[in-house]
Amino acid sequence: MKVLGIYDSHNCGACLVQDGRIIAAIEEERLTRNKIEFGFPYNSIRCVMEITNTSWKEIDAVAIAGLKDPPPWYRLNPKMFKFKRKMGFYWSLQYTLWRIIYTVRKIFPFPQLETYLNRLVLTTKIKRIYPDIDLKKVFLVDHHLAHASAGYRTSGFNKALVFGLDGSGDGYSSTVFTAENGELNFIAGSSEKASLGKLYSNVTLGLGFKKISGEGKVMGLSAFGDSESFFSEIDRVIQIKDIEMGFFSTEDLLGNTYAKKIHRIYSRKFSREDIAAATQRKLEEMVVKIVEHFVKKLDIANVIIAGGVASNVNMNQVIRELGCVNSTFVFPNMGDGGLSAGAALEICYSLGKEKGKKFFPYRLDNVFLGPAFSNEKIKKTIETYNLKAGYVEDMESRIAELVAEGKIVARVNGRMEFGPRALGNRSILVLPTSPHIEDVLNQRLRRDEFMPFAPSIIEEYAMNEYLEDGVPSPFMTETFYVKEGIKEKYPAVVHVDNTCRPQTVNEENETYYRIIKRVGELTGHYVVLNTSYNMHEEPIVCSPEDAIDTFLKKAVDYLALGNYLLSSTREMSAAKKKM
Ligand SMILES: [Fe+2]
Repeated sequence: MKVLGIYDSHNCGACLVQDGRIIAAIEEERLTRNKIEFGFPYNSIRCVMEITNTSWKEIDAVAIAGLKDPPPWYRLNPKMFKFKRKMGFYWSLQYTLWRIIYTVRKIFPFPQLETYLNRLVLTTKIKRIYPDIDLKKVFLVDHHLAHASAGYRTSGFNKALVFGLDGSGDGYSSTVFTAENGELNFIAGSSEKASLGKLYSNVTLGLGFKKISGEGKVMGLSAFGDSESFFSEIDRVIQIKDIEMGFFSTEDLLGNTYAKKIHRIYSRKFSREDIAAATQRKLEEMVVKIVEHFVKKLDIANVIIAGGVASNVNMNQVIRELGCVNSTFVFPNMGDGGLSAGAALEICYSLGKEKGKKFFPYRLDNVFLGPAFSNEKIKKTIETYNLKAGYVEDMESRIAELVAEGKIVARVNGRMEFGPRALGNRSILVLPTSPHIEDVLNQRLRRDEFMPFAPSIIEEYAMNEYLEDGVPSPFMTETFYVKEGIKEKYPAVVHVDNTCRPQTVNEENETYYRIIKRVGELTGHYVVLNTSYNMHEEPIVCSPEDAIDTFLKKAVDYLALGNYLLSSTREMSAAKKKM
């Protein structure tokens, strides 16, 4: 059974699920090169079909995330709606509009009408691609159910609690689902008005960062601040009225009021580090209360964290370390970029069940779900750019040697990662002991983060030598405290609070494992600094063309593109793209 998943708001993209497993997935931004792309993902749909060699005739169902969000007028012409992520005129306009929709929905509550109109708009768009589509095969899936399904159905847990922590979607901001034997059951949800995600994004905007990507900067900044001074202010903004997800908000978190207040009033009285620290503490305190309550009440200790707030890796660490929690799982594309996968997984499960075949949860072992490019295509692309590159048979060993020498090496190999993290196939790799490497990389990538870089560590060494209470963590979705002496040894990949956000790598990730293992044999350090291969504020590279364009911006010393190696010193002067 093949189900095509689609999401068409910010972080839009497509996914193909076969018999309950994701076989291809991509976000539109990687193809259009417009970060956090929004709108109907025509390119992504074509891409997942091509990757899997699937024709429309083979598609059993199309699953689209969002019953009433985004609203029909937005879906009809998303380009008319200027999606802004930074404070300004259009940003104010967009939030005023959102408040109007929210108010109208409260006065005239016709969710079925909105869903009906959405269905009409979406089926029209699908018909444009494939006129013969049987409209009975098109399904709309609730926003939070799609988040929960992405997390549960790839977690490997049979029984778990799913916490959807989000900005908002289809009427809720945070949700709780129980999950058992393939069935997801909604048990609680908090209103869009009292949203943990919107609280965090208001602070993000108020401190001058961009919504959706700037939240990570606020989290990174929080480690430098003292949470005490601003805590009493932020503490009253959102409170738990009733632990069964009844949140109460004293500020307008739906609109732009609180972001303006942070910007105009609080950021003059308090340092941005202290504001960030108090916000992070408030988030963690709220989430701990909710998770502890439901875990103890329902006696289910496997916890899945889903939704945009699950990109907060420090919060995920706090949940993992709770005494009442047995183990945790975070879907690697936890935000709305993962909704296409969640929608497809959910519909695949329910259709399978109808036909007497239940597709039970599986453990996602990698996110290499995007396109790959052959050496032949790579060679042709290099020739197009008039560059010289050497063919290297054992590229893994060569990369390891270069990294061991202290070089900055980009690796573009195999299928691209799905989700916000590059996990070895579209990564820049560096020895984390290289002096001043953090400053060098920040300058070359034009990066301005407050978080340190992240390490990829051979799993057995991560457990024994690097991390305190380490557990396998293949997707960089959570932080860990590091053991004594690690921060001094690898300052570029450990934060001021002694945490790091590792990718643990085992033999299942065969070629990447071989690189790090070889680096270890050559240097004694079974760890590499791994950051995504892209210039700051650009999407992660996808194609050989993207990889070479970034290489020509002098981001790295070497580019290992498939089996072809480009050196910046040797070829940069000859770089000239044929027009
Ligand atoms: Fe969401």
